[in-house]
Amino acid sequence: MKFSINHKSLEENLEVMVVGVYHRNEVQGYLKEVDEKFDGGITELLKSKDISFHKKQISMLHTLGKLNAKRLLFVGLGRERDLTFDELREAFGRASKKLKSLKVSQVGLELDSFVSEKFTTLDVAHAFSEGFTLSTYQFDGYKEKSNEPEVTIEEVHVSSSGDSAEIQSALKVGEVYGQATNSARNLVNMPSNMLTATSMANYALELAKRYDFEAEILDKEQMEELGMGALLAVNQGSTEPPKMIVLKYQGKDDWHDVIGLVGKGITFDTGGYSIKPKDGIVGMKTDMGGAASVLGAMEIIGELKPEQNVVAVIPSTDNMISGHAFKPDDVITSMNGKTIEILNTDAEGRLALADAVTYAKHHGANYIIDVATLTGGVIVALGYDKTGAMTNDEYLFEQILESSHEAGEFIWLLPYTEGDKRRVRKSKVADLNNSPGRDGHALFAGAFIGEFVESTPWVHLDIAGTSVAKSPNDLGPDGATGVMVRTLGAFVETFQPKE
Ligand code: BES
Ligand code: ZN
Ligand code: ZN
Repeated sequence: MKFSINHKSLEENLEVMVVGVYHRNEVQGYLKEVDEKFDGGITELLKSKDISFHKKQISMLHTLGKLNAKRLLFVGLGRERDLTFDELREAFGRASKKLKSLKVSQVGLELDSFVSEKFTTLDVAHAFSEGFTLSTYQFDGYKEKSNEPEVTIEEVHVSSSGDSAEIQSALKVGEVYGQATNSARNLVNMPSNMLTATSMANYALELAKRYDFEAEILDKEQMEELGMGALLAVNQGSTEPPKMIVLKYQGKDDWHDVIGLVGKGITFDTGGYSIKPKDGIVGMKTDMGGAASVLGAMEIIGELKPEQNVVAVIPSTDNMISGHAFKPDDVITSMNGKTIEILNTDAEGRLALADAVTYAKHHGANYIIDVATLTGGVIVALGYDKTGAMTNDEYLFEQILESSHEAGEFIWLLPYTEGDKRRVRKSKVADLNNSPGRDGHALFAGAFIGEFVESTPWVHLDIAGTSVAKSPNDLGPDGATGVMVRTLGAFVETFQPKE
């Protein structure tokens, strides 16, 4: 997207100009100028509610030649003090959907009309470009393309009295956050016959090339040599080779205070011999949502180059059934030497993550954040709009929480208890079992990963509910949400290691 910034919006020849409308006693700024051109007409229309100042309400007005801009698109913002940053971004999302439907290629944005006591020019610029990029996303899919040329918005003329260079960079940051989320959405929306572990590894290699990351892709033989028996067990029934994908970004002089981002990359989860019911299996192409979030975050990191060290680790395979597949009652040995009794082959994510966490530590991770579509249990507990978290380190969790607030992605901390650790460790034949029961099973899944994290500061994020949206919202369509990409991006950008 091209953004051009200028100081004289009224003179622009544009199809549509976007203007913010707060609930105020009288019109001010740009709105006042327009009101004067319309001989007080705007004030009248606000009174009659033909132009709405209510939060997130969009109204449109044809200027009938009175302004150079053909139409004005009013974005209702409510009272200044009541508007949150999330709502501002959502208001821009809604306005952008409307703009997209107008099929114009250039639009104007009257940036200063959105500025308030609470939000600076730069806040507004960030909210606009992020909201715009997120809300206008669509997955192209695999249908025959229509011959009609598509009109998309290519240029936004931003008018503001603020500093042009600073505004440009705030717009760019919002766009990067939005684009990276959309990349993750694309991966999650792809079916598993098109996104295999091998193609995910190739995608990671492309990122590495684009951003100069160090990359390592382990194949099956290398995993065998390293003793990654947990990931290999999940892959056993498949004809698709597994991959352990590693990307490294070094933003500091030395490799210390390393953040490990670990994402579950199960490209399809049949459940294995503990097979899923026919309704539960549909949609399991999205079981690599955690991997997609981590790759999206790496895109933000590659674009913005923060002064941090990051290692991304993604264990990837599908979970299939065949004569070779692993079975309930099997005992497997993970990379760190702990043995695991398999009680449920559908609890495969924690197995893949066990070896990935061990490997992240092997690569020097001092802090670990894992992201995974791990359990149906988290959906029962928190619904489809909250990510469930667990942690062994409050200091680290506070930073994740703070970043999730910035991103507008809801996280709720679940308990990590000694009792649940004991349940995970209960087995007659092995050190651990992979499925202690249905009661509170989201917690067992997290606790199981904790056994491999050991004393490393760690936050676990279960996105089974939040990675896919059942219906469209202001910031995107139904389908993959790309949840946690922006939280992780903000976290890495602002992370303060422990003293
Ligand atoms: N991939 C699923 C979790 C999931 C469920 C993700 C629904 C997205 C939507 C995971 O591998 C799984 O099957 N978990 C089991 C665990 C159980 C066997 C202890 C579950 O949640 O039922
Ligand atoms: Zn499963
Ligand atoms: Zn799964």
